[in-house]
Amino acid sequence: SEEQLKKLKGVVLEGLVPSSEDDLLLANGLNYNVVLKWGDQLTNKDTFGFNNDFTCFIPFDEKKPNDGLLWVNHEYANPLFVAGFNFNAIENPLEQRTKEQVDKEMYNVGGSIARVKEENGVWKLVQNDPHNRRITAQTPIKLNWDTPIKGKTEVIGTHSNCSGGITPWNTFLTCEENYQDVFGDTLYDDDNNPINAPSILGWEKFYDYPPEHYGWVVEVNPKDGSAQKHVALGRFAHECCTLYELEDKRIVAYSGDDKKDEHLYKFISSKPRSLKEGTLYVADTVNGKWLALDWENEPILKNKFKDQTEVLVRAREAAKLMGATPLNRPEDIEIDPITGNIFVSLTNNKNRNDYHGSIMKVEETNGKFDALTFKASTYKAGGEENGFSCPDNLAFDLSGNLWMTSDMSGDAMNKKDKPYMPFKNNSLFVIPRYGKDAGKVIRVASAPRDAELTGPWFSPDGKTLFLSVQHPGEQTKDLNNPTSKWPFDQDGIPKPAVVAIKGDLIEKMNLLNKIEL
Ligand code: FEO
Ligand code: CA
Ligand code: CA
Ligand code: CA
Repeated sequence: SEEQLKKLKGVVLEGLVPSSEDDLLLANGLNYNVVLKWGDQLTNKDTFGFNNDFTCFIPFDEKKPNDGLLWVNHEYANPLFVAGFNFNAIENPLEQRTKEQVDKEMYNVGGSIARVKEENGVWKLVQNDPHNRRITAQTPIKLNWDTPIKGKTEVIGTHSNCSGGITPWNTFLTCEENYQDVFGDTLYDDDNNPINAPSILGWEKFYDYPPEHYGWVVEVNPKDGSAQKHVALGRFAHECCTLYELEDKRIVAYSGDDKKDEHLYKFISSKPRSLKEGTLYVADTVNGKWLALDWENEPILKNKFKDQTEVLVRAREAAKLMGATPLNRPEDIEIDPITGNIFVSLTNNKNRNDYHGSIMKVEETNGKFDALTFKASTYKAGGEENGFSCPDNLAFDLSGNLWMTSDMSGDAMNKKDKPYMPFKNNSLFVIPRYGKDAGKVIRVASAPRDAELTGPWFSPDGKTLFLSVQHPGEQTKDLNNPTSKWPFDQDGIPKPAVVAIKGDLIEKMNLLNKIEL
């Protein structure tokens, strides 16, 4: 309305300065409420897990954007918080681990489905809704593949769920990232002999679950919580999975391997809406080529691996044999809704003296998502000049402004790692597409101490930004003296939580393409 536009005209996009304050600070014109936090009772038996990351909201009815199902990833569980086990204070911690502790940690990872509803501008959990459920590290999950992996076609659990995506048929994708921390990994020496690499968390002491069952893209049906792991998309530290549906309904899926010097992948399906039939490619960003990881047609792969299943399980090695370009930790990926360009966060790579990372732009040849050639360039570099460091999650709003979060790790901040000091707490930024600030990086939210802001996701009407506040107080060594108190509960214990951000500033940003405000 005229009135509303007049009001929005007065809203100024004014960035925050870097802050060390232990609070979730928002720019003028934004407000938030906590929707879900660690330990919240979803049902009489299930509670909301720890360290929420990716969020994805699907309304029951497109015409009613304020009632639907929220998926939330629970990436990892801090043993001190969920099981009272202090890794830092114990000598030989792995020897002291108990099954009871590990069980608590296993319960607190995976994901949550929660019905959430907005009433009078406040988003709330609908407690005990029949859709509410947990998926944990103990939930049986099918492999969407015909050849068993380590003898199984159904595996136990999902964990390390970092970012994710949504499918055109409205299911959730949740991606298994640093799986090696949990049950270790199988590495191979120069003679192709397997070596067991131990995990950091030591879960393998109590559960003999093969590492090969993790590191996949997992699809979850919101309606009944059934899940499957998509082997065809390859096994690596998947940060996210971003889908595009071609006119003939074949699917293109982009995913990055968030590890130093690992790669960017895309899967192109050969059948409509399939995440099983098709070819996995890996990026040579220097020559702008998508290289097929195709055992049948690549002698170099045939020579090393026994079949296509092994190529997918050992995708990293296959990618290197094919000549893929090592990247500076590819994180989240989003497709620009206006140009169709693909944006990839490269968070950092200290091995290559890249402390601040960058956002890479991928332009597929002739704008075709199933092209086998492309051009890669740097869209925006991190560093003091642009006011951000270590880009991680990305999200486009309705008018094509790019929102971005930063992930300077707790260790980096804590050791007073010099390059990161000017940026202070991790933050949420927006890069406006239009107007006088177009292309500038503007800080719009600042995280509580030790926290990272993750999982930005806009409601379909663009009016709400769901955001995770992950690991506040992560550096805590003693629960009686935590390094953060956010969200300021009476018990004084910091808790990861999902917030809903609203306000005139979001409404204005969403209208930037329609009307000059
Ligand atoms: Fe879990 Fe790549 O961040
Ligand atoms: Ca991430
Ligand atoms: Ca995203
Ligand atoms: Ca990260």
